[in-house]
Amino acid sequence: MSKDGLKKIEHNYNNLKNILHQKRAKSKEGGGKKRLDSQHKKGKLTARERIEILLDEKSFVELDPFVEHRCSDFGLEKKSFLTDGVVIGYGKIDNRKVFLYSQDFTIFGGSLSEAFSEKICKIMDMALKVGAPVIGLNDSGGARIQEGVVSLAGYANIFLKNTLASGVIPQISAILGPCAGGAVYSPAITDFVFMAKKTSHMFVTGPSVVKTVMHEDITMEELGGAETHASRTGVAHFSYNNEIELLGEIRKLISYIPLNNMERPPILVKENLEPNSDGINSVVPINSNKPYDMHSVIFKIIDSNSFLEVHKEYAANLIVGFARMNGQSIGIVASQPAHLAGALDIDSSVKGARFVRFCDAFNIPIITFVDVPGFLPGRDQEWHGIIKHGAKLLYAFAEATVPKITIITRKAYGGAYDVMSSKHIRSDLNFAWPSAEIAVMGPKGAVEIIWKNKIKGSKNSKKEIDDLTEKYKEKFANPFVAAKRGYIDDIIEPSETRNRIISGLELLKTKVDKNPKKKHGNIPL
Ligand code: HXC
Repeated sequence: MSKDGLKKIEHNYNNLKNILHQKRAKSKEGGGKKRLDSQHKKGKLTARERIEILLDEKSFVELDPFVEHRCSDFGLEKKSFLTDGVVIGYGKIDNRKVFLYSQDFTIFGGSLSEAFSEKICKIMDMALKVGAPVIGLNDSGGARIQEGVVSLAGYANIFLKNTLASGVIPQISAILGPCAGGAVYSPAITDFVFMAKKTSHMFVTGPSVVKTVMHEDITMEELGGAETHASRTGVAHFSYNNEIELLGEIRKLISYIPLNNMERPPILVKENLEPNSDGINSVVPINSNKPYDMHSVIFKIIDSNSFLEVHKEYAANLIVGFARMNGQSIGIVASQPAHLAGALDIDSSVKGARFVRFCDAFNIPIITFVDVPGFLPGRDQEWHGIIKHGAKLLYAFAEATVPKITIITRKAYGGAYDVMSSKHIRSDLNFAWPSAEIAVMGPKGAVEIIWKNKIKGSKNSKKEIDDLTEKYKEKFANPFVAAKRGYIDDIIEPSETRNRIISGLELLKTKVDKNPKKKHGNIPL
């Protein structure tokens, strides 16, 4: 080719390259400086800043930066932005791949159009094919009003993909601005919801509709802020003071979980894993009605500083969270005697069940610490369905096929003994501390029922009750009756617990267990 011809091609190419560079730069401008500034003024980061903080440095690869909406109604034919309000792509967290989408509030308020939803679906399809988590950063005014039903269809497409991906790849949602109306249902289907205090809000109907229909005054924060969802509704699993902290904690969560349901969770080998277990033999008080904090038991057993508590502010009578034993990820489910005496109620049962099912779906062994006096009695619990909700936790433990190890520290009474990962529902290794009391019910209640007439006829009923209580305790409120029948595999000292769990996990690495073939079970919802 002649020199002139080559020059022409080069010139042409440079022109095209410039157009590409200009367009790419434009795609990164979001809705423009004014709107980006307004985002910062609200105490929020921009869609791209969030990605930068979330992912390993320079690991983000964007897809679909040139997508625009196709709407020609209500003036939108004259108004369009590259990306159409959502940044999608993939990248790495601790060098492990993840997919993400980040809604850009500066473009049409992050509202969801047909093109916008197609972008999210594209990322989810890829994540499913590749087998990697999807992280959704939500900050949106909901359905793009100008697109009408097409936008609703877009939401439904996402809901379907969320559902099909559930249990196959981890799905994590961060709510970093408004998330209202039907839009809440995508995060609600995902495995974990993170919220930022003061700047994120989730509700099906906002304060103005509540005012019109119900004549109630309520603020956005009260109705659907982070505190409400983290402590009252349980919709949010994690809540943080600001977005930077929140994004850092998503990275932390990812470090405990596998990329998909065919993998095992990563092993994090670090130095100084041994916890400070001083005083572990005396954590449980001699008086069996005295509370103690189960966190102090957990911290003396797991790798030091390895606990990531889930639903920390919700249903505090049951502790759930991720931790590590010798670097291996585990899920912890633990009674909390310091709150409601550790009794199981509706909220804690649902909280526990959801966590157990996540662990089971993603091959994370479950360690259960038990000090449970039973299910919480009362009209409120019965009328709200403690029967069906308590059954969820029972069902979840029973169907779980991952390695399961249970430690009874003190009380394991009644149905709650069965529910809390007992041997009878397929737990693999069950240990009891010498302080364990495994019985149908607590001594006082039992004595008053079985020796009712004897107590009635006694001249000194208080003494009679005390004597009979001692007799009952000796007979039933100890771990030996259960150990005699092999319902627990061994009675161990608290100081032996860490080693017994570690060796148990090692043993159970090759565990194979299956549920009968079925379309799906029918967990009591
Ligand atoms: C199109 C929208 C929009 C929407 C906001 N914008 N929401 N555009 N569709 N849903 C645009 C605004 O017109 C504005 O554009 C820009 O985004 C920023 O919005 P502001 O109102 O200025 O911001 P702010 O004051 O912070 O208020 C945020 C907001 C409010 C609370 C989210 O915008 C709002 O109430 N939006 C409507 C929410 C809503 O009703 N959505 C539909 C819900 S029903 P300019 O150009 O002026 O910057 C739904 C159904 C989903 O979502 C069903 C799924 C099954």
